[in-house]
Amino acid sequence: MGRLDGKRAVITGAASGIGEATARLFVAEGALVLLADVDTERGKKVAAELGERALFRSTDVSLEGDVDAAVAACVSAFGGLDVMFNNAGVPGSTGGIEDIGVGAFDHTLGVHLRGVFLGIRAAARVMRPQGAGSIINTSSVAAFRANLAGHDYSAAKAAIRQLTLTTANELGEHGVRVNAVCPGAVATSIFGRAAGLDSEAAQRTVDFMTVALSDAAPIRRAGQPTDIAEAVLWLASDTSSYVNGQAIVVDGGLLTGSLRRNRPAASDGLLAQLRQSAEAADS
Ligand SMILES: NC(=O)c1ccc[n+]([C@@H]2O[C@H](COP(=O)([O-])OP(=O)(O)OC[C@H]3O[C@@H](n4cnc5c(N)ncnc54)[C@H](O)[C@@H]3O)[C@@H](O)[C@H]2O)c1
Repeated sequence: MGRLDGKRAVITGAASGIGEATARLFVAEGALVLLADVDTERGKKVAAELGERALFRSTDVSLEGDVDAAVAACVSAFGGLDVMFNNAGVPGSTGGIEDIGVGAFDHTLGVHLRGVFLGIRAAARVMRPQGAGSIINTSSVAAFRANLAGHDYSAAKAAIRQLTLTTANELGEHGVRVNAVCPGAVATSIFGRAAGLDSEAAQRTVDFMTVALSDAAPIRRAGQPTDIAEAVLWLASDTSSYVNGQAIVVDGGLLTGSLRRNRPAASDGLLAQLRQSAEAADS
């Protein structure tokens, strides 16, 4: 028996990385999945590999009509919608605040914040009348701390966290739960995309990122898309039926702070300086 037997799900950003891993896990656990992504080539390929329990629909999550159509396509093909995973994302701007163009800022907010808003709204229109459903939004550790990503991306991810809270409050009493997942440093193509690479070239950087991110957190390996997919699976399933309005961090402990093993040298150095300064003041 699968943990999502018979559940009908829409996953955005499902052609790659976290969304792809989640689509694969959901299908393996018995769900029917509509994969929605702007990357039609990869999205179709992944859906074809998953077989008849999966469908692909070309979707730009920043466009109202596309998101509504993706949800409608899931309802029409599978007979309903039980799980909405609003996950599509772009890397956002990398420059200092003076250098961020309005167009780039709007694009980042459009994909992340508007995309999640549109996904929650479309899902709520189906789930509230049926009195059940689970909506999961991808936020980030960048919603909690500076310098884990750029300004526009971090602001969008923090706003997604808050939109998760406010909609969880409204929809919870109608049987619809809304939660967020906040990944840490996960080896996906998003870093290659930040470097300006196209989709296929960005995929070829994932092994490099697995090594590059291996020292980012107390758990000393890079996050893998399946680490996030497992948390999303739990939030989607009925075993989390009393969890609502949460932002679940899956980051290997990244947000606990800089590594303790890096601390003694710095603090020993400071203590020695303190003793020297006291001796200097004495003499
Ligand atoms: N990888 C990490 O370290 C990390 C950390 C925190 C949060 N996240 C978030 O996880 C989510 C998934 O990212 P990922 O790491 O799997 O990256 P990824 O680049 O592998 O996948 C992102 C997917 O989103 C799709 N996409 C981009 N713009 C879209 C749009 N307008 N409409 C529909 N689809 C669109 C891309 O085509 C791609 O398939 C994103 O929201 C990202 O911000 C990632």
